[in-house]
This record gives sequence, C-alpha cells and structure tokens, in this order.
Amino acid sequence: MQLLQSGDEWRGQCPFHAARRRPPLRVLPHKKLFRCMSCGEEGDAIDFVMKSKSCLFRDAVAILSARLVPAADPAIAALEHAAFFYERTLWEHPAARAARDHLRQRSIREETARAWRLGYAPPGWTRFGEAARCAGISARVLEVAGLAVPRPSGKGHYDRFRARLMIPIRRGGQVIGFGGRVVDSDGEPKYLNSPETALFRKGETLFGLDESAAALGSGSPAVVVEGFFDAIALHQAGIRTAVAVCGSTVSENHIVALRAAGARDLVLAFDGDEAGRAAATRAALLVLRSSCATSVLECPEGLDPDEMIHREGPDGFRFRLSQAMYASDFLIKQEFRRLTSSSAIEERIAALSRLASSFASASAKCTASQVQRLAQLVGCSASSIEAFLMQRGLLT
Ligand code: UTP
Ligand code: MN
Repeated sequence: MQLLQSGDEWRGQCPFHAARRRPPLRVLPHKKLFRCMSCGEEGDAIDFVMKSKSCLFRDAVAILSARLVPAADPAIAALEHAAFFYERTLWEHPAARAARDHLRQRSIREETARAWRLGYAPPGWTRFGEAARCAGISARVLEVAGLAVPRPSGKGHYDRFRARLMIPIRRGGQVIGFGGRVVDSDGEPKYLNSPETALFRKGETLFGLDESAAALGSGSPAVVVEGFFDAIALHQAGIRTAVAVCGSTVSENHIVALRAAGARDLVLAFDGDEAGRAAATRAALLVLRSSCATSVLECPEGLDPDEMIHREGPDGFRFRLSQAMYASDFLIKQEFRRLTSSSAIEERIAALSRLASSFASASAKCTASQVQRLAQLVGCSASSIEAFLMQRGLLT
C-alpha cells in the first residue's frame, strides 16, 4: 500500500473496500489515526493490523512490536521480516502466480490466506538474503533463524526457502518458523520446514494453536490433524480449534501445550491411510496414558481432513466429529482391523494379548461394552474375555 504526503497528513487507497479514483484513506500522524472517508473504517495502528490481517489484538501487537521495537532476540526480528517479505511477494510478485493459483484451486480464500499470513519465497538463491541484508539483518542471524544455509564452500549463504508457498508457524503471535510447500508438482520434498532452532522445536509446536486459543478456551474440543492445510481448511470452515503436528508425531509436550491453551477434550483426525492410522494409534496410546479425554475421527480411505471438508462440507465434518469413537475403541478396532471371522483363533488371541498390553501400558480399563465387543471379535464368550482381562487387572 502506498501513501502520498498531502500537507501534514498522508493519503492512499483504502484496503478495506473496493478501490476508488480519489484515494479516500487519510493517515493523520499527529493524531496517530487512520480514517477512510469512503467506507468509514478508522482507528490506530493496532486496529489497522487487526483489521487487515483479521487477527486478534494480541497478534497485532506482536506483529507491530516485532517490526518496530528492536527485538531482544534478533532471530525473532529476522523471522518477522521474512514473514512480511514472503507475504508481499505472494500478493505482489508475478512469479507468485502459481502459488496464488494453488491457493485458489484448493479453495483457500484470500482473507484466509492473509489471516494466516501465507506467503511466497521467490525462486533464486539469494533474493530473501539480499532483502534482509538491505534491512540490516546479518547472514549469521538468518542462519540462526533457519532462514539461510551456509554454502558448502564456506563462502556466504543461500536462502533455505526458494520457490515455495510459505506458511508461517507462530507462537504467542511471534513467527518461530516456516513450512514451505512446493507449488510446481516436480519439487522435492513436498514440504520443507524450518530446522530445529532454539525458537522452533517440532516436538512441542502445534501449528494453529494461537488461532485456536479463543475457541479452545470456550470449551470446544481440540481437533488434532497432520497437515498445515488440514488445519487451515478446518478453520476456514468454522472449526476453530484445529491444530496440526506438521509431520511430527504427537508428543507429551504437544498435550501439555494444548492443555495450557485451555483444551479439555481432544479429537485426533488423521489421514485416512495406513500411515495416518498408525500415527493415530501411537497418539491414542499416548493420550490414554495422559488421561486426556480423547476420541478418534477416522477419515474415509484416501482422504485427509482438508479433502473431507471440501467433499462433505462443514456440517458433514461436524457430524463425523460428533461420531468420533473413544480412543480405546479405536485401539480395539485397529488391532482387529485385518482379522475376519475366518482368521485363525490363534491370530485373534494374539490380537487380544497385544491389545491387553497396550491397555496395561496406558493404565486403561475395558468397559462392559468393550468386553462384549471383544467377545464378538475374538469369537468366544464374554465371560472368558472377562476372566482374561480380570487376570491382568484390566476390568473397570
Ligand atoms: P501430507 O503429505 O499428508 O500433506 O503431509 P498434506 O498436508 O495433505 O499436504 P497438501 O494437502 O498436499 O498440501 C502432512 C504434513 O506432514 C508434513 C507437513 O507438515 C504436512 O502438512 N510434511 C509432509 C513434511 O514436513 N514434509 C513432507 O515432505 C511432507
Ligand atoms: Mn492434504
């Protein structure tokens, strides 16, 4: 956005309504206010950032302070500088057309993209590095922030993220790292993420936690998903408690972070494939151990939550959320998934034993209805299942 000086104020186009011929936006430095003569929007710098990024007061303050106040940690200032640079590139650079098309194709609205501060890292080896140098940020700081990589020759650095759609990962309003997705299908890997840094620790970071704080605080269950775009698409569809583990496995620290953000119940909504079910099984065991009320939403085969919400709509997804099964029921289902009534009895007993060890390791108990279910699955009487579980202290 460009502003032109006019007397002791500045004038420009208003970003909050369609462009007019005469720039209607007035910025009054002496009053520290902006006001649009056409649409009536007005306020101070914080209002401006909240409105233009559709973000909370707290996030607007973090964005402004990272840009204006010399940060105690120069890596934070570098990451904020990068987020801003990538954002501008996405909306203004011709080379970002493919990235904008990608967002459109996957039905991410512009307002959503702006709210999540999505961006684009231009192609070329040093475009961001050069822009950062002009802003007085050293290559060494970029390296510490995970934004630049030292050349093997030892001479200079190159940009870690090139020709990628950029997804800033934030905590407490501050950018702590990025995920970068290829937009041309031939790039590898599909996602390149920031390396582990002092600020960005994958095992304790949940993408979307800031954005979910308000809805978590009011008691809605946290929806834990695998991918960045699963979280973004769910939020866009009004499910405002979606957080993503971003290619890492659910850890104790993730659960601590969710609890600290006010989450009480969790729903695991992983991809509808072998890998997703295996990850959900590991996570279900972990959450059972931490005695966190948890259920599992199984996506239909081959779909992830992002694809599901586009196929079935927000109401379809909410219905599936309401039908999610208890984590322990999911463990039972998963253990017996490959077995049928014609499987050998030894295999069914082996499945029961593995299940018993899982429950024991998580100090979980079997309910009466689970005893019935197990009797059906193993193909024996409920009383023999009870006896088996009783011996191991697994009955409620
Ligand atoms: P998926 O491969 O399931 O991707 O990875 P996705 O989220 O469905 O991606 P889209 O929809 O094609 O964009 C799930 C998550 O795992 C991490 C990313 O966080 C991704 O969102 N991941 C995936 C990586 O870190 N690196 C990869 O190469 C792939
Ligand atoms: Mn996906």
